[in-house]
Amino acid sequence: MAEHPAYPVGLRLTGRRVVVLGGGQVAQRRLPALIAAGADILLVSPEATPSVEAMADAGEITWEKRPYAEGDLADAWYALIATGDTEANNRASAEAERHRVWCVRSDDADRATAWTPATGHSEGVTIAVLTTDARGRDPRHTAAIRDAVVEGLRDGTLVAPHHRTRTPGVALVGGGPGDPDLITVRGRRLLAEADVVITDHLGPRDLLAELPSSVEVIDAAKLPYGRFMAQEAINNALIEYAKQGKSVVRLKGGDPFVYGRGMEEVQALSEAGIPCTVVPGISSSISVPGAAGIPVTHRGVAHEFTVVSGHIAPDDERSLVDWPSLAKLTGTLVILMGVATIGKVAETLIAHGKSPDTPVALVQEGTTAGQRRVDATLKTVAETVRTEDVKPPAVIVIGEVVRVGPTATAPRE
Ligand SMILES: C[S@@+](CC[C@H](N)C(=O)[O-])C[C@H]1O[C@@H](n2cnc3c(N)ncnc32)[C@H](O)[C@@H]1O
Repeated sequence: MAEHPAYPVGLRLTGRRVVVLGGGQVAQRRLPALIAAGADILLVSPEATPSVEAMADAGEITWEKRPYAEGDLADAWYALIATGDTEANNRASAEAERHRVWCVRSDDADRATAWTPATGHSEGVTIAVLTTDARGRDPRHTAAIRDAVVEGLRDGTLVAPHHRTRTPGVALVGGGPGDPDLITVRGRRLLAEADVVITDHLGPRDLLAELPSSVEVIDAAKLPYGRFMAQEAINNALIEYAKQGKSVVRLKGGDPFVYGRGMEEVQALSEAGIPCTVVPGISSSISVPGAAGIPVTHRGVAHEFTVVSGHIAPDDERSLVDWPSLAKLTGTLVILMGVATIGKVAETLIAHGKSPDTPVALVQEGTTAGQRRVDATLKTVAETVRTEDVKPPAVIVIGEVVRVGPTATAPRE
């Protein structure tokens, strides 16, 4: 049997009986894919691992707690033979052969009539890798090939454009705080497949260098916007490129919906009838403090964190932020776009009851090579920003969490 290569095929098991003999580690590894395929699974085994037992408890499989018995495979379309008893496995194999049921053997690939490939999934395709003959079987090698292909497709280093299924439109992709490794797998893949990328100055700029030269990269800040507002110019560019049938990625820093005007773009695209996908990103509001050793919550210290925009000062009539109420909160305040206004913010928080000694950390250019953390207190922060020349982009963290990490530094007095 081993002289010829195995013939690869995809089994459509929905509602079809699959019998699994043995409830150990092999069954535990294989069952999720059989369940996902919609198979009607009968497990025959006196024992099962806790995970397999949980699948039975959840009604995903039927479990008969007993050893294999002749006749168990009569109604099966497919069988997985994986008991610890070689003699029972041999009898089950013989029964499978008689009933012409394809069967996998965990203990003896040579005696199996089917082999399980190393499989992985990536957006609508299953990658399955099989060795050509039983003697040369090297499960680690097939798994490594599977991993390389799946990883490559996921992170965009292996580019396989969706020629047949690709729908033109716009993907609004959150690029994360700046480190190119902190974009999502889906975001990176969409970037690799894009015809046009419209970017901001924040976010993972290093990723742009990796794009193929055929990709048109447009800096949103440099779009000509004449009588239009900048945001309208961006919306119009997204719509125009999409109407030309191009795959457009709108790459934004952090998450598109955290002070990113993402929904304005979604609305404009929807009004123009352009399909739009939103890919969340890691927001700087949590990740930048974390990268500087500051947890936004900590047991016994802060049970809440509030993310606030500081782009409008507290005494400005356009402000929508209730600073007096924020001063009364005991948890963490995270301020974005607040470098220019932090002096007035600190004054307001102190005036409404926050202690002047409340710790403050400013984290500039978090997660990038230029990351820098400066510590202060509410009383000293305005002066510290000046003397230390703190510049945007920076995330400002106010609260006791600033002092809990091992990298906390003494505030500048
Ligand atoms: C217009 S908001 C966009 C926020 C973004 N959508 C997010 O979820 O992170 C820009 C502000 O985010 C913060 N920010 C973004 N990336 C940063 C980084 N790498 N380091 C420090 N602050 C950052 C700064 O406060 C900056 O002024």
